[in-house]
Amino acid sequence: MEHIVVFTGAGVSAESGLATFRDDDGLWNRYSVYDLATPEAFERDPGLVLDFYNERLRNVRRAEPNAAHRALARLERRYRVTVVTQNVDDLHERAGSSNVIHLHGEIARACSSADKRLVYALGECDEFRLGARCEKGSQLRPAVVWFGEAVERIGEAVEHARGAERFLAVGTSLAVWPAAGLVHEVPPRARKVIVAPELEHPVGGFEWLRETAGEAVPRLVERWLA
Ligand code: OAD
Repeated sequence: MEHIVVFTGAGVSAESGLATFRDDDGLWNRYSVYDLATPEAFERDPGLVLDFYNERLRNVRRAEPNAAHRALARLERRYRVTVVTQNVDDLHERAGSSNVIHLHGEIARACSSADKRLVYALGECDEFRLGARCEKGSQLRPAVVWFGEAVERIGEAVEHARGAERFLAVGTSLAVWPAAGLVHEVPPRARKVIVAPELEHPVGGFEWLRETAGEAVPRLVERWLA
């Protein structure tokens, strides 16, 4: 089976009602990364950081997969599909994608602030709480990648990108490394498409569909399944 690597960012979940980061109404235009998404911010004011992630967790739980997530899941009827997402939501899984790599972690999981390898799934109604501790006694935090932290799964994602016969990027500004570097790992012979209404830095060798994910992805998937 042909191998498709799908690389997604916040834009694929925008039509599910989840905010992106760098659009005009994006999270990082409304809040400071340095107050909310670094290990130092968590040390300084863990309550503030946990409130921010609890709010995002509630939004993710309320959100539903959209037409783009669902179309991407349909690709598995005919292709070997690896989804590499920068998103911490679980909308790809809920749409039916079975092979998802979360480069930047998952919001519905907690980990120890002393050792990120100690990971715990949150219960359906659980939130992050000050005072909730791992089995070794350290405060729990969201199991996401903050600025300044290692992106543990990037090596695996690069291997997939290098072996891709088709590569589809959806809804990412390609502003955050090392994730953004994936588009440069795809072999020249692969079919390469990027879906984004706007792109500050268009990428060479990619067909660029200047539409939203909900518009472009279902159409492209139907073409690839035909
Ligand atoms: P960005 O907010 O940087 O980029 C979102 C992209 O999606 C932009 O290019 C938008 O134009 C596009 N977009 C907006 N609405 C869309 C729609 N309906 N359909 C398709 N595209 C749309 O988000 P990311 O590239 O995901 O990292 O950001 C990368 C990382 O930066 C995130 O994973 C997060 C953030 O800091 C961490 O938290 C570590």
